[in-house]
Amino acid sequence: MEKYQQYLQEAKKWCDDMLILQEEANDFLLIEEWKRKVEELEERLLNTQNAEEAVLVDGEIHTLHKEWRQFYDRFYAEEVNLFSAEEQQEEKEREDRVPIGGHKLPPLPYPCNALEPYIDEETMRLHHDKHHQSYVDGLNKAEKELAKARRSNDFSLVKHWERELAFNGAGHYLHSIFWKVMCPRGGGKPSGNLEREIIQSFGSFAAFKNQFSKAAEHVEGGGWAILVWVPPTQRLEILQAEKHQNLSQWDVVPLLVLDVWEHAYYLKYKNKRADYIENWWKIVCWEEVSRRLKEARRK
Ligand SMILES: [Fe+2]
Repeated sequence: MEKYQQYLQEAKKWCDDMLILQEEANDFLLIEEWKRKVEELEERLLNTQNAEEAVLVDGEIHTLHKEWRQFYDRFYAEEVNLFSAEEQQEEKEREDRVPIGGHKLPPLPYPCNALEPYIDEETMRLHHDKHHQSYVDGLNKAEKELAKARRSNDFSLVKHWERELAFNGAGHYLHSIFWKVMCPRGGGKPSGNLEREIIQSFGSFAAFKNQFSKAAEHVEGGGWAILVWVPPTQRLEILQAEKHQNLSQWDVVPLLVLDVWEHAYYLKYKNKRADYIENWWKIVCWEEVSRRLKEARRK
């Protein structure tokens, strides 16, 4: 009997959901009918004396369930426009949401040797498969440990895990952008809106490129050069990030990022960071940078 009771509880829950949907459609008749049927079935179940009768009620519950599913599917197919663009966007965002500790290493958008001769295959393989993977693992671990701390209300290691969260999170997100802002037939100059914004913010493409290269060259230790869109000023800016997260600003959107950790170039370029930077410009994927700017401007 327990199973049937469970079934009924489920059916009642569907009815409640349906009531909400029906409010949108201004039609309560059908759902009221189902509600009545569920109550009737519940009443009969309570008074069921033998297995034969229970099987009968079970069959009726199944039929009701099936009818309900059909109505539900039809309702969604026909009435999907009832939901505003904002609600549909929220639904999409829910689908995109990464669960706590559920980050995954994104695959490279091209083969490991695709950026040769500027970035060698071995560096790409190590950089992506080992280094980036370790940031993903570290971020998942930090998120899970902080969730554990919240559950147990034990925050004695909060400083450590917050630091791990920032370091590995920034490492994961920056690398995810980094792979995409490079492509095999990249290089040259940007065009369109991005070009206009660069000129507006830095005076010329040459001035921007020069500042970006110098910023990358002079990052202390491992870190990044980052072109960002700054919503409060509606301008582009160039920042350095020491490690992944230090010296960064909040409320800015990174558009173009250059990894100048030694692991990004040392096998091929040794201590010649400037040569790596010079060659890196030949594989910048300006289409992706433009796409990111367009998206950032909507925020
Ligand atoms: Fe890196």
